[in-house]
Amino acid sequence: MRHIKDKNIVIGISGGIAAYKSAELLRLIQKQDANVRVVMTHNAGYFVGPLTFEALSKEPVYTDTFEKGGNSEIRHIEWAKDADAVVVAPATANIIGKIANGIADDALSTFLLAVTCPVLICPSMNTNMYEKISVLRNIETLKKDGYYIVEPASGELACGTSGQGRLPEPEEILDRLIYCLSPKDFKGKKILVTAGPTREHIDPVRFISNPSSGKMGYAIARAAEHRGGDVTLVSGPVNLEPPVNITMVNTVSAADMAKAVFDSMENFDIIIKTAAVSDYRPKEAAKQKIKKGMDEISLVLQKNEDILFELGKNKKNRVLVGFAAETENLEKNAKDKLARKNLDIIVGNLVGERPDEQNDENDDEKSPVFGMDTNKVVFFFRNGDTEHLPLMEKGMVAHALLDRIADIDKR
Ligand code: CTP
Repeated sequence: MRHIKDKNIVIGISGGIAAYKSAELLRLIQKQDANVRVVMTHNAGYFVGPLTFEALSKEPVYTDTFEKGGNSEIRHIEWAKDADAVVVAPATANIIGKIANGIADDALSTFLLAVTCPVLICPSMNTNMYEKISVLRNIETLKKDGYYIVEPASGELACGTSGQGRLPEPEEILDRLIYCLSPKDFKGKKILVTAGPTREHIDPVRFISNPSSGKMGYAIARAAEHRGGDVTLVSGPVNLEPPVNITMVNTVSAADMAKAVFDSMENFDIIIKTAAVSDYRPKEAAKQKIKKGMDEISLVLQKNEDILFELGKNKKNRVLVGFAAETENLEKNAKDKLARKNLDIIVGNLVGERPDEQNDENDDEKSPVFGMDTNKVVFFFRNGDTEHLPLMEKGMVAHALLDRIADIDKR
């Protein structure tokens, strides 16, 4: 992800049972090509030894306030100067109380007092402790003071009880960390993204659909939320976790998706339609399962409404973005759609075969198949400009697209 790459991240670990999850968090952050250092409280060392984090981060782990850093500098000052963001996970009631009240009496609390970069706090403790008025008051103070908080999850806790207090999964913490690091250039913008396939039922157990995974649309929704947008995601049926802090609207058929979009379109400044909408639906879906009988049966299909075309007819000042997945003549087809649907940008890609089936001489230009984590796209703009992007992670494609949308929106 663009906004965490090459950044210096410090993980602060306090003495909670969830300290073991911080090792996984560290690995996830490293996978984003960021540098990680660890500061631990003395008590955190009872749960996971500093050596574990030293081996993973390949850096000394800071546990002692009076330890010197490089060049005889005081380590908590040196590391605080270098940090681009800090994540405290798990954050116990004790460390939360110290940060909220400006107390610095050990390595982690002293370090936290010295940092000036964004700090993400991930409270994790027994439910009764979490719900204690003093703890909730301290968390409110942290929010007012500009700290970012990840609400603890609910579920079974290590102490045998069940309730709110679990450290969220490392993937969610990483997502919020990226949020802290991202510029907020879409703040105040209402953004609608559609994603995934639609299902057009033939009978209650069969449907016409396509292999769209929804990954591109979900990546755009996440990136737009990271950049401060107020995002609604209208999704067809996919196997993806709903992104954090986004309004989800789940739909099945093209008609459902059309209704969800038309009901709310007036609210949005930017609409990005990545969904692979079925162009046709069975004219009549059978009420009961169709039984095997004749050797041949016919299915009469009826055209679905073109959602994007309708949006284009009523575009106003909205920025409108479409997608065109084509198997041939990308430029011509995409440009035709851009004009016909009255769009600002159309994102085109040539859909290729599975890698083991490739034999076309134009394969270099094709994205391998639906469902991948990468995509090779071309942006076609309303003014006739064209921009070819290399094969990229879908998250990176999402940011590149948002950059272009931000340029259009400024004009
Ligand atoms: N789209 C839509 N509603 C439909 C069909 C498509 O909103 N009923 C949107 C898609 O979300 C996408 C864009 O239109 O952003 C292009 O989809 P595509 O299926 O390629 O376009 P069609 O106009 O259906 O073109 P064709 O079938 O001729 O390839």
